[in-house]
Amino acid sequence: MAQTWLITGTSSGFGKALATIVAQNKDTNLVAAARHLDDLAYLDAFDAKRIEKVVIDVTDEDQIKAGVAKAIERFKTIDVLVNNAGLGYFATIEESDMDQVRYMFEVNVIGLANMTRAVLPTMRRQRSGVIINLSSALALTTLPTMGYYSATKYAVEGYSDTLRQEVADLGIRVMTVEPSGARTQWSGRSSQKVVPTIKDYAAFSDSVASVADSVTQAPGNPKRIAQVMFAQANASEIPAHLPLGDFAYHGGLANLQGLVTEIQSRENISLSTDD
Ligand SMILES: NC(=O)c1ccc[n+]([C@@H]2O[C@H](COP(=O)([O-])OP(=O)(O)OC[C@H]3O[C@@H](n4cnc5c(N)ncnc54)[C@H](OP(=O)(O)O)[C@@H]3O)[C@@H](O)[C@H]2O)c1
Repeated sequence: MAQTWLITGTSSGFGKALATIVAQNKDTNLVAAARHLDDLAYLDAFDAKRIEKVVIDVTDEDQIKAGVAKAIERFKTIDVLVNNAGLGYFATIEESDMDQVRYMFEVNVIGLANMTRAVLPTMRRQRSGVIINLSSALALTTLPTMGYYSATKYAVEGYSDTLRQEVADLGIRVMTVEPSGARTQWSGRSSQKVVPTIKDYAAFSDSVASVADSVTQAPGNPKRIAQVMFAQANASEIPAHLPLGDFAYHGGLANLQGLVTEIQSRENISLSTDD
C-alpha cells in the first residue's frame, strides 16, 4: 500500500523540495499543507490522484484538526509526518522583541507539537509511523544573535528525544533533522532581523545585516537535503538525529565534545550532591 506523507510548510524551501519528491514517487501519497493553497500550484504538474492540498497554519488548532481529518478521509493512513514549517529570528538576546519571539515559539514549537498530537492517535492505531521534526544545526551548537531561534530548536530536540522514548514500542520512529544554513526563504522573508543598536553589541551588526544573503549564498542545497530526508525516512534503521552539512556535523560535534569534556572535568563536584 502507498505510504502517505503529510508535510507542513510546503510553499517553499525544504517543504517544497520534499513535497516535490513525494509527489513524483509512485509509491507515496502526499498531503501538502500550506497557509495559502495558491502557493501549491507547482504540484499541479504531478498525479492529482495521489495528492491532497490542505490549508494549515500551524498556529491554528482548528486548521490542524481539519487538515489531518481530510488526510485520513482521503488516504486512510498517515505514515510520515514532516513538521517542517518554521521561522527564523536574528537579534541579540537583549534587543529581541518578545512578541516576535513568542510568535516564533508558537510556530516552531507549539505548532509542531499540536501537529504531532493530531497525528499520533492514527499512528498508534496503525502501530507504525515516522515523525520527522525539522530542528537545526543551531540545536547542536549556538551563535550570537541566534539565541531565541536556537531556544526553539533545542526545545524541538528535547521534545523529540522524549517522544521517541514514549512511542518506540508502538512502532513509531522520531527523527530530528539538523540542517546547516541552506538556500531557502528561512533567512529571507521567513525571519525578522534586528540589527543591534546597543553599541556594546556592534560586533554583531554585520552578521545580522548580511543575513538575507544566505537565501542565495548559504552552502546547503534544499533539493539535496530533501533527497537525504526522504531516503533516511525509508531506511531500515531510521536515524534519531540527522545533522546535515559541514556546520551541523563539525560545528555540532565540536560543541558536543566540548560539553562532554567540561562535564567530565567536574565529575567530583557533580557527584557530590546526592546523599
Ligand atoms: N534554511 C535553513 O538554513 C535552515 C536550517 C536549519 C533548519 N531550518 C528549518 O527548516 C524548516 C523549513 O524552513 P526553510 O529553510 O525551508 O524556510 P522557508 O523557505 O522560509 O520555508 C518555511 C515554510 O514554513 C512555512 N510557515 C511559516 N510560518 C507558518 C505557519 N504559521 N504555519 C504554517 N506554515 C508556516 C512557510 O509558509 P509561508 O510561505 O506561508 O510563509 C514556508 O512554507 C524550518 O523549520 C527552519 O527553521 C532551516
